[in-house]
Amino acid sequence: MGNNILKGKKGIIFGALDENSIAWKTALQAHAEGASFVLTNAPIALRMGQINELAKQCNAEVIPADATSIEDLTNLFEKSMEVLGGKLDFVLHSIGMSPNVRKGKEYGDLNYDWYLKTLDISGISFHKVLQTAEKTEAMNEWGSIMALTYIAAQRTFPDYGDMAQAKAILESIARSYGHRFAKLNHVRVNTISQSPTMTTAGSGVGGFDVFFDYADKMSPLGNASAEDCANYIIMMFSDYTRMVTMQNLMHDGGFSSSGITEEIIGQMTK
Ligand SMILES: NC(=O)c1ccc[n+]([C@@H]2O[C@H](COP(=O)([O-])OP(=O)(O)OC[C@H]3O[C@@H](n4cnc5c(N)ncnc54)[C@H](O)[C@@H]3O)[C@@H](O)[C@H]2O)c1
Repeated sequence: MGNNILKGKKGIIFGALDENSIAWKTALQAHAEGASFVLTNAPIALRMGQINELAKQCNAEVIPADATSIEDLTNLFEKSMEVLGGKLDFVLHSIGMSPNVRKGKEYGDLNYDWYLKTLDISGISFHKVLQTAEKTEAMNEWGSIMALTYIAAQRTFPDYGDMAQAKAILESIARSYGHRFAKLNHVRVNTISQSPTMTTAGSGVGGFDVFFDYADKMSPLGNASAEDCANYIIMMFSDYTRMVTMQNLMHDGGFSSSGITEEIIGQMTK
């Protein structure tokens, strides 16, 4: 049961593919907290996924959009304001995909067309979302726009491949556009850096199971779940976080501040 902390708020949620998706859990939580919103995903993902089930549960409309297409995004923002009957208070960018990672390409053997795709889909699309929100004048005063990222933007995790650069771009865009949107109409822009999570995007990374387990042992609180991440996003959409902007917020059970843990020492001395 929610506490209605998003009562009356309107938004767009990108990236709910299936029930494991962080965006899926966020949509359920946003609904429970009294928000109304539009769900969106790439047309191909809509064909494969189960988003209509989620839409029914949340009383939400689904509007397809490839997040790399300005035409799709413009249509999405304009239609969303029509459907929801006004401007938006929140947007969640929960999008990630690397053709190089998906096809198991080594970092020293990248396909450069795919590299550009990775950067566009997983990084620059966030700028496209923000710029389209500005150009369509879609955001209410004190709105909140969030994207999801991973600590490989700061530290090297070899199997994360070219996604590391995409996430570095994404986090940088949050700072640059955060400044701009704050001045425009007090809209805040942040990223959440989430623990490894068992989703389609997550498990696409090589050796994910071992890596998930390692991160769990390296985090004093353990890995943050997708539900925990959804709760954090909801708080960031609420009026309780109005002065937080241009931040990369670690949501990782303490992983990013840990040198080593007893669990890892135990494993190494076995
Ligand atoms: N799962 C993890 O371990 C983990 C950890 C940290 C951050 N993240 C980030 O969380 C976010 C959500 O991923 P998830 O783990 O819920 O996995 P997911 O696979 O459920 O979600 C990724 C989504 O991106 C969408 N997408 C891909 N290309 C798109 C395009 N061109 N236009 C619009 N949408 C597109 C997919 O359809 C899918 O819905 C991503 O940014 C991911 O990088 C995930």
